[in-house]
Amino acid sequence: MDQTTDPKKLFIRTYGCQMNVYDSERMAEAMGGEGYVEVSSPEEADMILLNTCHIREKAAEKVYSELGRFKDLKDAKPDLKIGVAGCVAQAEGEEIMRRQPMVDLVVGPQTYHRLPEMVRRIGTGAKAVDTEFPLEDKFEVLKSRPKGRRAPAAFLTVQEGCDKFCAFCVVPYTRGAEVSRPPERILREARELVERGVREITLLGQNVNAYHGEDAKGAGWTLARLIWALNDIEGLERIRFTTSHPNDMSDDLIEAHGDCAKLMPYLHLPVQSGSDKILKRMNRKHTAEDYLRLVERIRAARPDILLSGDFIVGFPEETDQDFEDTLALIRAVNYGAAFSFKYSSRPGTPAAERPLVDEDVSTDRLYRLQALINEQASDVLEGMVGREVGVLFEKPGRMPGQMVGKSDYLHAVHVSGEGIVPGDLRRVRITARAPNSLAGELV
Ligand code: SAH
Ligand code: SF4
Ligand code: F3S
Repeated sequence: MDQTTDPKKLFIRTYGCQMNVYDSERMAEAMGGEGYVEVSSPEEADMILLNTCHIREKAAEKVYSELGRFKDLKDAKPDLKIGVAGCVAQAEGEEIMRRQPMVDLVVGPQTYHRLPEMVRRIGTGAKAVDTEFPLEDKFEVLKSRPKGRRAPAAFLTVQEGCDKFCAFCVVPYTRGAEVSRPPERILREARELVERGVREITLLGQNVNAYHGEDAKGAGWTLARLIWALNDIEGLERIRFTTSHPNDMSDDLIEAHGDCAKLMPYLHLPVQSGSDKILKRMNRKHTAEDYLRLVERIRAARPDILLSGDFIVGFPEETDQDFEDTLALIRAVNYGAAFSFKYSSRPGTPAAERPLVDEDVSTDRLYRLQALINEQASDVLEGMVGREVGVLFEKPGRMPGQMVGKSDYLHAVHVSGEGIVPGDLRRVRITARAPNSLAGELV
């Protein structure tokens, strides 16, 4: 970087899942090497990067409306570069530039380590598109991370892509086949994060519990083995992982939830539907009963574990009875949280060929499902009052002297306490609940 000029400014907006959050961090780091610093508004930027999500139609279309809003900025500052990264970039490629000619660069999730070189190319007025699935390992190309202090909780991608091909889902196409990173590299990255102040790591993968890394000696590692190795890192206090598929919840991973001290009592375990007919058509390869038995085994290993899930309502040909079966499953499980979506037909997926459920019917089902989930989440929150939990403090709260952190169960907890700093892990007695968070005092 030329030290005599001001650094160039990069604005990144991230949509979609946590893996996109992780990828955006890595892209910002890669661009740091090109002399870019990150800024918090598009108006200041010399380059704007949208890291996009293709999972539902609305998410994908948002990208185009967002790009439309940057038109005035580009008119006012013709040198402004605009890039589209992530899963829409992967799925739509050059089509994006046809629809929005002001886009200079399109980069998929597997090639963002080539971003610096692409940015140099567009500096000369050219356009650049890269949506390959290259053989080189982007994580190795990007391996040196900057050294500054970090927030106490961080994401770390350990597995990427998916071979499950659920009938509704674009992820196997946008992220490609399942690939696991070698354990040594993950452990090295974890140690580096801890040196920079990180105390909680969430291991990421589209199908994280299918992790099957191979070490330098050729030995296979399961996710449980990786978690046990992370458990030995001094200074790392908490481990989480997301997102898991029910069919990959192996015995060693269930046991780890009972035995591994740093593994937190929270598990995101999407089931999508409680109807066997719909599960079959979704290609989930398990029944509602299989899922309920699995939940029982997990709770036997860790009785206080909090479960969250994902649900799709209005999947093609979902009847009232199918939907009632989903509600029954939710009642049987009792979730602490859940994400729920109306089915969105995605081009190229098998389910897109099937007859749609009436929109109003889907809307009504979504409303009813969310009401039930909210009731359960609210009861779980209420049940925390009076209990003592670990809280990892992250930042100051809105009130003077107040700090906010996350409990072991991922609830936001507000505590007024002098002398607490971000990164402190303390025992807290929960004294009250708000609609979506808790309040407590240090023990
Ligand atoms: N790999 C994760 C989830 C990835 S996508 C898993 O297997 O669970 C996150 C969630 O988006 C999914 O769990 C599903 O509930 C939802 N989703 C995916 N495709 C969708 C679609 N076409 N319409 C509506 N919701 C969808
Ligand atoms: Fe999509 Fe299914 Fe793979 Fe999850 S397991 S990413 S829902 S195909
Ligand atoms: Fe979206 Fe891609 Fe994640 S489609 S949910 S950003 S894997």
